[in-house]
Amino acid sequence: MKRIGVLTSGGDAPGMNAAVRAVVRKAASYDMEVYGIKKGYMGLINSDFVRLDSSSVGDIIHRGGTFLRTARCEEFKTEEGQLKALKNLEAFGIEGMVVIGGDGSFRGAIALSRKGVPTIGIPGTIDNDIPFTDYAIGFDTALNTVVEAVNKVRDTATSHERTFVIEVMGREAGHIALYAGLASGAETILVPEIPFNMDDICKKIINGYKRGKLHSIIIVAEGAASGFDIGNKIKEKTGFETRVIVLGHLQRGGTPSAFDRILASQLGGKAVELLKDNIGDKMVGLVNGELLVTDLEKILVTPKPLDMNIYKLAEILSM
Ligand code: F6P
Repeated sequence: MKRIGVLTSGGDAPGMNAAVRAVVRKAASYDMEVYGIKKGYMGLINSDFVRLDSSSVGDIIHRGGTFLRTARCEEFKTEEGQLKALKNLEAFGIEGMVVIGGDGSFRGAIALSRKGVPTIGIPGTIDNDIPFTDYAIGFDTALNTVVEAVNKVRDTATSHERTFVIEVMGREAGHIALYAGLASGAETILVPEIPFNMDDICKKIINGYKRGKLHSIIIVAEGAASGFDIGNKIKEKTGFETRVIVLGHLQRGGTPSAFDRILASQLGGKAVELLKDNIGDKMVGLVNGELLVTDLEKILVTPKPLDMNIYKLAEILSM
């Protein structure tokens, strides 16, 4: 393979730039050319291609977001959209693709592979809801962002002896909430994977105050409940002064952590190795420190379970 393309798709995640850099520079080491596709699958359809050489990906390893831009594209889900994209790829002589994104983006990667353009998926989403990889690019940075925010909330929560409900992202998954909850010492963690009972939550808060706790921090995954609903119920049932914060998109921004940059570099490099050997329709991930190559089809039909050992530990430690 002599010429490949790379795009970022779906929600941006810190470390995507580091992954693009790795793709471009690893490809250069094999004398392969790289085209960046702007705005995800939209750029494939609109032929929004830009030649990337090693120097054009300089000074981006530390930047959040994605310099290629990203988008969610309905048109690429249609046969017509996919055929337009294929025509553009052919016109540019692009023989293989790297797609950096979440599971929605991988559906497009499967479509491209099936239509004769070998495509490798790289997991990039703060939600960390992709199976066959311990971590997706962006999760570690988002986690650190949440923990930093909770640290700050703790200061004011203690000063006022208040209960704080902090809603975090994660779509239908609770990985951000769980890991951030453990790392920040939250009293309660609500995730969509595990049912919860408001009476139990309120009892725990009341007992905590009785034992002399100065505040209570409840982390709610957006897929479990609305932070405002939980906050209102706590206020109603306990009478405690309660405040609610929705962290929102600030979790997606910021300079990527060292971990995310290293992960992105490893996955980007491996993706190019596979394309060099004409292998497509796979995702590269990292499991127990080892690079793992998995069929994209398998990724879409396998759920990523929440780590129940971490959940139980967080519960024990949050007494
Ligand atoms: O998938 C990443 C994510 O940030 C989710 O956690 C969140 O539910 C969603 O994207 C938000 O999407 P948008 O940026 O389109 O509002």
